Amino acid sequence: MFQFKEVKYKEILDLPDLYINFGITVLLGASGSGKSTILKMLNKMISPTQGTILYQGKNLKDLSSVEHRRNVTMLSQNPTMFEGNIRDNLTIGLEFQGKEIPDESELAEILKQVQLKKELSESVLNLSGGEKQRLALGRLLLLDPQVYLLDEPSSALDDNTEEIIIQMITEHVKKRDKSVIMVTHSKNIAEKYADEILQIGHGRVLNRR
Ligand SMILES: Nc1ncnc2c1ncn2[C@@H]1O[C@H](COP(=O)(O)OP(=O)(O)OP(=O)(O)O)[C@@H](O)[C@H]1O
Ligand SMILES: [Mg+2]
Repeated sequence: MFQFKEVKYKEILDLPDLYINFGITVLLGASGSGKSTILKMLNKMISPTQGTILYQGKNLKDLSSVEHRRNVTMLSQNPTMFEGNIRDNLTIGLEFQGKEIPDESELAEILKQVQLKKELSESVLNLSGGEKQRLALGRLLLLDPQVYLLDEPSSALDDNTEEIIIQMITEHVKKRDKSVIMVTHSKNIAEKYADEILQIGHGRVLNRR
């Protein structure tokens, strides 16, 4: 799916030869090791300072960023909230893409899936960090890209909610033949759900299994 050839990013990443396959890939590693920077490169938010990244055999450099991000979409560590209520924030991605907005019951179902026990009409101003993250995850599920880039989707969650959310995402993705590339600090989550685990340290892949 993704192939890195002699890739470097500033002094931060050195990935001479990395292949990321379809399925569920988990990136593990210490804070500051370069995990988020790798995801940002996959999403074309930043470009390698050296080398080439291919997606499905195509050089990322040659793909339109907007088009690419429809296929490969990121849930960032600190997702953006827009003015308005929960419904607005769920559907804003679809609106940007000019897609049809699902009806009320479907939107409520998404809230259930992400374990957000709130009304669609509630303001997002008072949501906690973890609730905002789950709302942004709901937004992403509605967009349903080919590749989900998840940057610590469960960092703000308690263990039980974390397990429920990750299980839901991995099931959703497998059912539809999509892929996940996820950063987590949880070895337990990695062992349980990953097809492949990449251990990142000092901007390099230390180990893969
Ligand atoms: N645009 C940039 N320019 C210079 N340095 C950067 C840039 N972006 C990130 N860094 C540095 O690169 C290193 C890797 O950052 P990154 O955010 O990828 O780490 P991470 O593994 O995601 O860490 P965490 O687990 O804390 O989220 C850090 O030392 C960070 O300060
Ligand atoms: Mg990070």
